[in-house]
Amino acid sequence: MENKVKKIREEVESFIVSSSEELEKFRISFLGSKGSVKGLFSELKNVAIEQKREAGQLVNGLREFVQNKFDVLKEELESSSDDNQKIDTSLPGDSIELGARHPLSLVRSEIIEIFSRIGFTVSEGPEIEDDWHNFSALNFPAEHPARDMQDTFFIAKGDTPQEEIALRTHTSSVQVRVMENEKPPIRTISPGRVYRNEAISARAHCFFHQVEGLYIDKDVSFADLKQTLLNFAKEMFGDKAEIRLRPSYFPFTEPSAEVDVSCTICNSKGCNVCKYTGWLEILGCGMVDPNVLEASNIDSKEFSGFAFGMGVERIAQLKYKVNDLRLYSENDVRFLSQFTSGM
Ligand code: PHE
Repeated sequence: MENKVKKIREEVESFIVSSSEELEKFRISFLGSKGSVKGLFSELKNVAIEQKREAGQLVNGLREFVQNKFDVLKEELESSSDDNQKIDTSLPGDSIELGARHPLSLVRSEIIEIFSRIGFTVSEGPEIEDDWHNFSALNFPAEHPARDMQDTFFIAKGDTPQEEIALRTHTSSVQVRVMENEKPPIRTISPGRVYRNEAISARAHCFFHQVEGLYIDKDVSFADLKQTLLNFAKEMFGDKAEIRLRPSYFPFTEPSAEVDVSCTICNSKGCNVCKYTGWLEILGCGMVDPNVLEASNIDSKEFSGFAFGMGVERIAQLKYKVNDLRLYSENDVRFLSQFTSGM
């Protein structure tokens, strides 16, 4: 009798139930009127009188055990089918938040696209730069006051200015690297981050982004420069955009100019962004100084060229009407998620 009870316990324990039919099978085979527990009860009458009491307790214990197991299985089955009913397949799914591209990256890509349509390639250079590429090759003589125009972050001081290492102050350094490595015709733009030692405010930051442009070939003229920039302004700000050039000074270009674009915010009528002038400054440019060509072993009698450099933040400010430069580097998702391509 003891063995039989043990065997039935084992069977009960290993029984798995995943549907109400299986639960019914369990009930019938163990607890039903022809079930194994009932069978043991009827066998009790054959047990010797002096063992009856003990055997009775054993079989009663078994019945209780099987009944408990049945109750547990029943509850499990009911709660799992409850779960099934809780799933409402007609509800919309959880939406996954999509990332957004950074506004500066959107503007950078747009600038690259505009210039690549007219045959410009993309070149990049290092952010840690030596004096030669950032200054000397660009016609900044040592001790020349023009070096002070750009508040430089120096990384390593040398005995002479020519040995100094700095964070590049402009992407014009990439011009030099391209001229050293390629022969004209050269038509390239260089997007990248630049650094200047300035106090951070809404209008200035210690790092920002520029896109440099360089075009060198035979007979490149100032008219080519102007037309290239007008094309850029119209592609970037719309067909109505106009540009004007004001004389300026850069050591590496001669003549040099600063370029304004007609204010897109007030349609040149005058507003506080353009300070009621109708014009907004967007870039510096000029004809590459012959000294710069010669420093990179390009014959300035055979070739001429133009260069320009624009601030990506400046273009983004005008395009998205965001006037505080600090927002671009604070990584506030509420700000960053507002921009989508094609705006
Ligand atoms: N490098 C200049 C600046 O950072 C911009 C510039 C580039 C001007 C190329 C002329 C030609 O202000």
